[in-house]
Amino acid sequence: MGRIIAVANQKGGVGKTTTSINLSAALAAEGKKVLVVDTDPQGNTTSGFGLDKNDLKNTIYTLMIGECSADEAINKSFLEDLPGIDIIPANINLSAAEIELIDTEGKEYILKHEIDKVKDRYDYIVIDCPPSLSMLTVNAMTTADSVLVPIQCEYYALEGLSQLVHTVNLVKDRLNPTLKMEGVVFTMYDARTNLSLQVVENVKDHLEEKVFMTIIPRNIRLAEAPSYGLPINLYEPKSSGAYAYKSLAEEVIANS
Ligand SMILES: Nc1ncnc2c1ncn2[C@@H]1O[C@H](COP(=O)(O)OP(=O)(O)OP(=O)(O)O)[C@@H](O)[C@H]1O
Ligand SMILES: [Mg+2]
Repeated sequence: MGRIIAVANQKGGVGKTTTSINLSAALAAEGKKVLVVDTDPQGNTTSGFGLDKNDLKNTIYTLMIGECSADEAINKSFLEDLPGIDIIPANINLSAAEIELIDTEGKEYILKHEIDKVKDRYDYIVIDCPPSLSMLTVNAMTTADSVLVPIQCEYYALEGLSQLVHTVNLVKDRLNPTLKMEGVVFTMYDARTNLSLQVVENVKDHLEEKVFMTIIPRNIRLAEAPSYGLPINLYEPKSSGAYAYKSLAEEVIANS
């Protein structure tokens, strides 16, 4: 049965999407069957995997408003060289969902009900969250078994983290009692600066959550890969970014 991991941090630009794409691809390269779910109206995971955001009939939006089935929303084996990955894509239409579903009873469980129908087909389901603690993020956390939090190695790394942990705890208390913290992963680590090292040490000192051993380095190849519509292990398999996400996938598998 699929293990569902929500990649969340309400802070923008910390590496949620880069982690969702490349962790999923690394898990698939390990022979796992993976479903990626894009719940961000920006659709960066969708385009980062080479799908045209503006040319999609079914998305997470049409799924959540009941216009298509989970099966219809899934683009299957869309990467020729990594057929173990399926995706439920997103585009800007999703930004209307929050308002449209405001009066729907049980709106925190809409995604969970849909993912429950397909989760047995997968080893892992990775949900990329938007940079907010919105209804979409709550839906992702209600669906998930665990939350993986990317933290950028920069001065304000800890800002907002207590709010995120508070939200995870609220969801756990009220909506999803078995929700766990998968762990914190440091991203964009720059070995040339003392700051990155200080941030890692400081966060480790102040955080009770599990911290992954793997640290994702700042690697230009990781930033380039989405413009080719490829995960790092297909775009540049011998890059430091590809090695790091492989190592993260191995840790996630070991945690199972
Ligand atoms: N390890 C890395 N090395 C170099 N660039 C990176 C790395 N991780 C992410 N980036 C770049 O940093 C930017 C932000 O990353 P990403 O989109 O993954 O963050 P995000 O948390 O999903 O952002 P948002 O909150 O907008 O959804 C992107 O341009 C991405 O290519
Ligand atoms: Mg993103």
